[in-house]
Amino acid sequence: MQVADISNDIDHVLLTHDQIEAKLAEVAKQIDHDYADKDLLIVAVLKGAINTLVGLTEKMAIHAPMDFMSISSYGSGTSSSGTITVRADLTTDVKGKDILIVEDIIDSGFTLNWLIDRLKERGAKSVEVFPLLNKPSRRKYPVSIKYPGYEIPDEFVVGFGLDCDEKYRNLDSIAVLKPSVYQGE
Ligand code: IMP
Ligand code: MG
Repeated sequence: MQVADISNDIDHVLLTHDQIEAKLAEVAKQIDHDYADKDLLIVAVLKGAINTLVGLTEKMAIHAPMDFMSISSYGSGTSSSGTITVRADLTTDVKGKDILIVEDIIDSGFTLNWLIDRLKERGAKSVEVFPLLNKPSRRKYPVSIKYPGYEIPDEFVVGFGLDCDEKYRNLDSIAVLKPSVYQGE
């Protein structure tokens, strides 16, 4: 899906597909270097991180073992509900692994803060994070971000995995919706 397909819903484009791809290529290179001699396991947070996971790992030159966790801190609306629901857990034992969490966005930090603690509890050797997007102005729970993606303003965004009520995930760029699209919910 491209912006032209849903132009009535879009207020403005924040990041083009090319900008996203450029960031993913840059981070992939760093990961190749940093994890060359490590026991890497990429943990992607479903569902939003899928596009970032694919874009990132196809640009990596080293192997990228991956596993998935489906957790949700949001209901169907546009603000965090403040509790985590685990919908599906990892199938890999993370003990001794060097974990890289791939996320779509870090907002309050609640989700990543929670996940980092759980993975460390399970015996991960190291846990680092790559959130494609970062809304620093919204941070309530501190998270140290080893691989920063793009910093964005405090606006609700969709695309490249990010949804509004399960829609727009397959948009190939990152965009801000017209307020009327979600205020009408
Ligand atoms: P946090 O726990 O507050 O950091 O929120 C992280 C999660 O909230 C992300 O993984 C997204 O699923 C969701 N989220 C946060 N901001 C947005 C947004 O602007 N658009 C869509 N989803 C978002
Ligand atoms: Mg998410």
